[in-house]
Amino acid sequence: MIYMSVTIGTPLQASAFKVLLLGSGELGKEVVISLQRLGVEVHAADRYDHAPAMQVAHYSYTLNMADAEELKQLIEQVKPNLIIPEIEAIATQVLVDIEQQNIATVIPSAKAVNLTMNREGIRRLAAEELGLPTSAYRFADSLESFRAACDDIGYPNFVKPVMSSSGKGQSRVKSFGEVDAAWEYAQTGGRVNQGKVIVESQIDFDFEITLLTVRAKNAETGEIETQYCDPIGHRQDAGDYVESWQPQAMTPAALEESKRIAHKVTAALGGCGIFGVELFVKGDKVWFSEVSPRPHDTGLVTLASQFQSEFELHARAILGLPVNTTRHSVAASAVIYAGVDDTNLSFSGLNLALSHPDTDLRLFGKPEGFKRRRMGVATARAETTDQARELALRTATQVSVQQN
Ligand SMILES: Nc1ncnc2c1ncn2[C@@H]1O[C@H](COP(=O)(O)OP(=O)(O)OP(=O)(O)O)[C@@H](O)[C@H]1O
Ligand SMILES: [Mg+2]
Repeated sequence: MIYMSVTIGTPLQASAFKVLLLGSGELGKEVVISLQRLGVEVHAADRYDHAPAMQVAHYSYTLNMADAEELKQLIEQVKPNLIIPEIEAIATQVLVDIEQQNIATVIPSAKAVNLTMNREGIRRLAAEELGLPTSAYRFADSLESFRAACDDIGYPNFVKPVMSSSGKGQSRVKSFGEVDAAWEYAQTGGRVNQGKVIVESQIDFDFEITLLTVRAKNAETGEIETQYCDPIGHRQDAGDYVESWQPQAMTPAALEESKRIAHKVTAALGGCGIFGVELFVKGDKVWFSEVSPRPHDTGLVTLASQFQSEFELHARAILGLPVNTTRHSVAASAVIYAGVDDTNLSFSGLNLALSHPDTDLRLFGKPEGFKRRRMGVATARAETTDQARELALRTATQVSVQQN
């Protein structure tokens, strides 16, 4: 017997199947578009008006999602079938309660969202409970314990606030002389409940990858199965991705080990959806770094390389539908920054950027730019990843940002 999956109603009518997106950035925008195509009614929330995903949703809400009361009220008002936390700065305890009371399904699970919003939660799960290989690490919540942790781990090491993302408050500490400044810097970069940091030993990797891992139901049995996209290579600058490509060449043993690690960590987090498993690779050896329980920024390359982008894979998986992770092309992506701090920006040079038939662009429509804020992305397909990277970088450069 074939199992019966979700029934999708009509958006804006009583039968609507509703999704509430918490965090409405550029990745959420693509998820919304994928959900819209499947007839889902989408509600998008963020802390500011006109965020990218809000611009393509049926309804939008501006609120402080880290405030438990405000968040609870919104969920009561919308009554969503699914809640998709798209960012980490959320009152996650509310989501744990919502899931426990069966009010809505949290994507991929309240446990996953709760553990991954804090580096301590996910690191202890991966290294101590699951026994996965990671960098050596210590946690510290005072300058004194931080100095001891740095000396324990040695130099150079990486310091990160446990509640932070996109490189905020992070530094690479090269010697004891830099320790106090790193502590000060970490205190300014944390998201909430400032103080605690992780100190990690530096892994001397050949390259790093994101292994997009999808947990989706088998169409016939309804059993959750794990599937993988081809590995995505990427280059980070100051904790932020600047370009990515797919596939990243690696040894069969390293690929197998990457899948083993991704399978273990995503199974422990549970639920359905896509996960971005970040791994460091040296020869056949692989270390787990961290995981996003949602589409990953480096995975923007799948818009050009796969039949179903990471956003379509996520939309299908969370609805309980089958997925196809096959790649059809070699491709790369390159980030377009604002380059200035200003609102109301314009983008030109698009004709040049798109003159090559194998290039494409996404402009996110963010109302305000900062020097290092991601405003768009260029993608390119080619014969080899080197060629695709070159073309994507050139395409991104051809887009120029103007102040009005
Ligand atoms: N222990 C380590 N050894 C070597 N390199 C590291 C280590 N930790 C972090 N890095 C480098 O710094 C980058 C950012 O680290 P990490 O992913 O932990 O931070 P993040 O703020 O979550 O970044 P993002 O949000 O962009 O994923 C990594 O992709 C890697 O290039
Ligand atoms: Mg990362």
